[in-house]
Amino acid sequence: MSTPSNAPDSSSSSAGAQSSTPVVPAGKHPAPPCTLVIFGAGGDLTKRLLMPALYNLTVDGLLDPQMKIIGVNHGQVETSAWRDDLYKALQQFAADKASTFHTSKLDDKAWSSLAQRKAGLLKEGDDGKGFRRIVIEKPFGTDLASARDLNEHILSNAKEEQVYRIDHFLGKDTVQSIMAVRFANALFEPIWRREYIDCVQITASETIGVEGRGSFYEQTGAFRDMLPNHLFQLLGMVAMEPPNSFDAEAVRDKKADIFDAIQPVKPDDVVFGQYEKGPAGPGYRQEPDVAPDSQTETYAAARVLVENWRWSGVPFYLRTGKRLAARRTEISVQLKTVPFRLFRDTPVNALTPNVLTLRIDPTHGTSFDFNVKAPGPIMQMGAVQSSFNYGDFFDEQPNVGYETLLYDCMLGDETLFQRADSIETSWAAVDDVLHPKGSPLPVHGYPAGSQGPAEADALLARNGHAWRPLSKDKDADAKK
Ligand code: BG6
Repeated sequence: MSTPSNAPDSSSSSAGAQSSTPVVPAGKHPAPPCTLVIFGAGGDLTKRLLMPALYNLTVDGLLDPQMKIIGVNHGQVETSAWRDDLYKALQQFAADKASTFHTSKLDDKAWSSLAQRKAGLLKEGDDGKGFRRIVIEKPFGTDLASARDLNEHILSNAKEEQVYRIDHFLGKDTVQSIMAVRFANALFEPIWRREYIDCVQITASETIGVEGRGSFYEQTGAFRDMLPNHLFQLLGMVAMEPPNSFDAEAVRDKKADIFDAIQPVKPDDVVFGQYEKGPAGPGYRQEPDVAPDSQTETYAAARVLVENWRWSGVPFYLRTGKRLAARRTEISVQLKTVPFRLFRDTPVNALTPNVLTLRIDPTHGTSFDFNVKAPGPIMQMGAVQSSFNYGDFFDEQPNVGYETLLYDCMLGDETLFQRADSIETSWAAVDDVLHPKGSPLPVHGYPAGSQGPAEADALLARNGHAWRPLSKDKDADAKK
């Protein structure tokens, strides 16, 4: 991304695709004019996420009308064909005159021909005006060693403040809201510590399979794909100390402290699974581009420990998987149960723990499970739930998650992007799992559409805990 002092000439054209005048949301202003160069522009991400996000930003009036978009891709695709393709992807909205397709291979010739289109690559002006920023989509490396190499390479060509490493979970409003829930309410912070919290469960379960991404997934697996990035980011938001401000470095320093405090995850504390033919469809090994004897995990669960004053002894249970019983991205904070003594002479035989659930996707909100007295003449407990849904209080704008990230990058706000050090400490924490000293972790089968492998239940049972069932939230199932 770069400023337009040397933006492409009139042969490329602006992102202002709207005919009606957009209403800029209160407190916001359009990003400075710039040129966005998308590498790999023919890919799925551009169609499914980047373009819709740019479109939504345009509708909100948050892009400068002079903004330019250049797509770089291998293969021979004409600008008009690319536009048509994007047009189809955006369904009813034409990106007419919104973009220029620069067909090229990523070799020296391509870079220099791109430079001739005046993108300027990473050279920033000496006058302090303008910017050149690199936005890097996940995966950032495949383990600690490769992430280190990549950081080293990038940082030998650019300054850290020019580098924007995306984890798209941080673009979700519901993820950003974790800080608001924690730090803008007097209720939560006093109990947000090991004295009151029994365990934290972080779930990102999906009902879909690998969706034609078999060859990518065979190299990656669920653990690498989701755990040291998306799930650790959620963990960071839940576990971080309050920063002194929302200044990017203040927030990122507090998160970095958490990644530093995560203990190396032990292979014994990890369970891998792979979906097999079940009620929800065929098994992973029957998917296209997947080896018939594949040992790639499509499910991963882990017990993660954060060794610091606030969290020592509180297990963080992380799980993710494809083709599970429900689509659920959520964080459940389970409190310790109260002493039973008061209820010992009553028919009450068990008390369920209080659980605060922060629902990220597909429903957006929070739920709180607590106990009340069930109506009637005897003391009997009723476990109830109080829920808040964003849609009941706010107009939820169409959002693919990349709007805030792209807008922030244009403004130069790095708060929601990952710093080199945090990426490396996250990969370091899982290195023993990715490169086990002994034999590779066993991969346990689970039926497509189920709760995951039974071995994952045993992982929690060791500490007297149990996973939150994946079918509880009826709202979520209705919207999936
Ligand atoms: C991506 C993973 O980063 O996140 C995918 O590569 C996964 O495998 C996706 O499906 C989940 O994101 P979301 O926003 O749909 O929960």
